[in-house]
Amino acid sequence: MSKLVNSSAGDNSTAAFDVERVRRDFPILSQEIYGKPLVFLDSGASAQKPRVVIDAVRECYETYYSNVHRGAHYLSQRSTDAYEEVRTTVAKFINAGSEDEVIFTSSVTESLNLVAATWGRKFLNAGDEVIVTEMEHHANIVPWQMLEQEKGIVLKVVPITDRGEFLIENFERLLSDRTRLVAITECSNVLGTMVPVKKVIQLAHEKGVPVLLDGAQGVVHHGVDVQDLDVDFYAFTGHKLYGPSGVGVLYGKWDILNSMPPYQGGGDMIERVSFKGTTFKEPPHRFEAGTPPIAQVIGLGAAIKYVSELGMDRISAHEQGLLAYATERLKTIEGLKLYGEAADKAAIFSFVVDGTHPFDVAAILDRAGVAVRVGQHCAEPLMDRLGIEGAVRASFGLYNNRADVDALVQAIEKAKGMLT
Ligand code: ALA
Repeated sequence: MSKLVNSSAGDNSTAAFDVERVRRDFPILSQEIYGKPLVFLDSGASAQKPRVVIDAVRECYETYYSNVHRGAHYLSQRSTDAYEEVRTTVAKFINAGSEDEVIFTSSVTESLNLVAATWGRKFLNAGDEVIVTEMEHHANIVPWQMLEQEKGIVLKVVPITDRGEFLIENFERLLSDRTRLVAITECSNVLGTMVPVKKVIQLAHEKGVPVLLDGAQGVVHHGVDVQDLDVDFYAFTGHKLYGPSGVGVLYGKWDILNSMPPYQGGGDMIERVSFKGTTFKEPPHRFEAGTPPIAQVIGLGAAIKYVSELGMDRISAHEQGLLAYATERLKTIEGLKLYGEAADKAAIFSFVVDGTHPFDVAAILDRAGVAVRVGQHCAEPLMDRLGIEGAVRASFGLYNNRADVDALVQAIEKAKGMLT
């Protein structure tokens, strides 16, 4: 395993966050929808892309695209270098100890499934317990349920409070001598709740239990330092981090990765194949079978450079300002019930309006140019816990501003007027 010497994840800049300038980096934001300026509040599902990401992907396809790790020719070497350079960029961004701890996958869903299918199949046995929370995305429930069926493991679910808070004592109560893994979200995609993951990891490690974090939403709002957290696995995706879809990341501590069998078999993950048997490469290549998402990885590299230059600290501070403003404004709407009022949360607002159906509200918002997500948000158990069939969700990104909040509030008032 090669070692990285320093991290570029920190933000050394003290310049103010100029959201109007940032907005100009995103070509899609300057359009009108149904004759209204686009107000994009669905970044929790998938964020928009800055020009530098679009250009990086286009440049790859126009000037040096080729398969990686395979060809003897110039373009293949250039693509391979660019692809591997992003591994280093990712490692520095999350402060991994080595780029060999960074696996490229197709999505956070695949990253989580990879851990379940390899580490889980090898190390979990009947009666072993895996701790999740009530606010997990399906991608961090179903892979473990598959192991419940296959191997008889037991899922333990940390309850949340009515305000959508994660209480450490509720977690501690479930941590037992049978716990073999804690697999939890860092930030709820519905409630915005930030889990006190450092404390969770510390408590789990005291019992020798590894921790897997679903960082799909968390990394976007706060960045991550995997060495500081001492987390064992960290999964995130490119498309919520202003990069392309089709690329995800799984970070794992190298010794753990090296103890895991391959995920998929095929090209690039092998050392030697014969009909007598096959040997496999070391991590991370052991887990990257087949042609990877080359241009997507390169786009992810551009996205990480973009957010790093803006500074994750400044992005976070900007979004916290929007969180405070939007919370205050949304609370003025009579009949609006907000789900997720944890003290530490990201700018994600799920709500229902008395006497209305969430889909009708979302349709009216759409006609006002306000793009939101509606439904169960891939979190049906959480909907059951909250006692609702679904909700409207407005999720903010680094390019949103106060005018977007005002437009949202105005559109909800209009929907209320039309539907009640
Ligand atoms: N996981 C994505 C969301 O929360 C799709 O919308």
